[in-house]
Amino acid sequence: MDRFPLILGIESSCDDTAAALVSGRQVLSSVVMGQNALHADFGGVVPEIAARAHAERLDLCVEQALQEAGVPLQEIDAIAVTAGPGLIGGVLSGVMLAKGLSAGLGKPLIGVNHLAGHALTPRLTDGLVFPYLMLLVSGGHCQFLTVSGPQAFTRLGGTIDDAPGEAFDKTARILGLPQPGGPSVEAAAKQGDEKRFRFPRPLLDRDGCDMSFSGLKTAILRQRDALIAEQGGLTGQDRADLCAGFQAAVRDVLTEKTRRAIALYQGENPVKPALAVAGGVAANMALRGALETLCAQTGLTFTAPPLRLCTDNAAMIAYAGSELFALGETSDMTLAARPRWPLDKRAAPLVGSGKKGAKA
Ligand code: KG4
Ligand code: ZN
Repeated sequence: MDRFPLILGIESSCDDTAAALVSGRQVLSSVVMGQNALHADFGGVVPEIAARAHAERLDLCVEQALQEAGVPLQEIDAIAVTAGPGLIGGVLSGVMLAKGLSAGLGKPLIGVNHLAGHALTPRLTDGLVFPYLMLLVSGGHCQFLTVSGPQAFTRLGGTIDDAPGEAFDKTARILGLPQPGGPSVEAAAKQGDEKRFRFPRPLLDRDGCDMSFSGLKTAILRQRDALIAEQGGLTGQDRADLCAGFQAAVRDVLTEKTRRAIALYQGENPVKPALAVAGGVAANMALRGALETLCAQTGLTFTAPPLRLCTDNAAMIAYAGSELFALGETSDMTLAARPRWPLDKRAAPLVGSGKKGAKA
């Protein structure tokens, strides 16, 4: 083949239906159909509604991705699909579509781990070379990984309860701000004073780089109720200050734990150290800024993919698929949809259930 294989990527593991066409490091199209409006009345993602919406839209989404790339379906070389971890109904919808396309077209099928998609994104966007340290931080996940190859991940630490995105979403709910909470809390925090309320920085007193975020929402809830009891309600400024205080706590914990992860990582990988961040919360500018400063202080290069490739998308799945395809790692029709699928199979599970169901 005198060109990079043309890979169709399909993603449906949470509440974004997505399809993309990627060739090498070139993203020919990336379509993301969000479902925020469908879940807005419920204060979170409803798995059954998400699965139905994926089933209804996946083929339209693939059609649009092909059209935007100007590529006929017959010209793709392989189909990469998220096979987990995630909400099982959605993952199943994507896997079934991918199997149908693979069988109908006679093209290879590649099952991709959603988290590997996030973790390999800095290679797609910036051509980062292995190994690098990754902070994967989203609505369902939070972990530090050494990424040494398309299938070689070592977990250095992670959250023992909520993921930071989940904490942003819950904070938004507590304060009556729209979902997803990350962008609305960040916008409100811009008008706020982060010093007015001091929220806890959990687990900083403990060695290592495991984290905890579930206590933060309780602290926000208590502070909100105290303000309501005192003043009879919340002003816009109260909301902004609560958001700023919350975001500062998340930023400080993630930055301090990243400092420790860097120390662990550098012990093993002293040459040309690099930190990359990915996942929806990596869209947060306060966090990016703090991590950039930390990297400048500690002599690491810092990579953060553009926002549209930080949140869930199918270009990252197609790209991860292309790395597996190059290794001959294709799947067959027994490919299973997996709600749980840890990247580092040797690491013990850290957490229970969250927004995306059982977490990896
Ligand atoms: O990676 P992603 O799209 O889906 C998962 O795999 O979870 O991440 C979505 C999460 C949501 O919880 C959302 O609130 C959070 O990322 N998020 C943000 C921002 N944008 C999205 N969190 C903080 N600041 C943001 N700007
Ligand atoms: Zn994700």
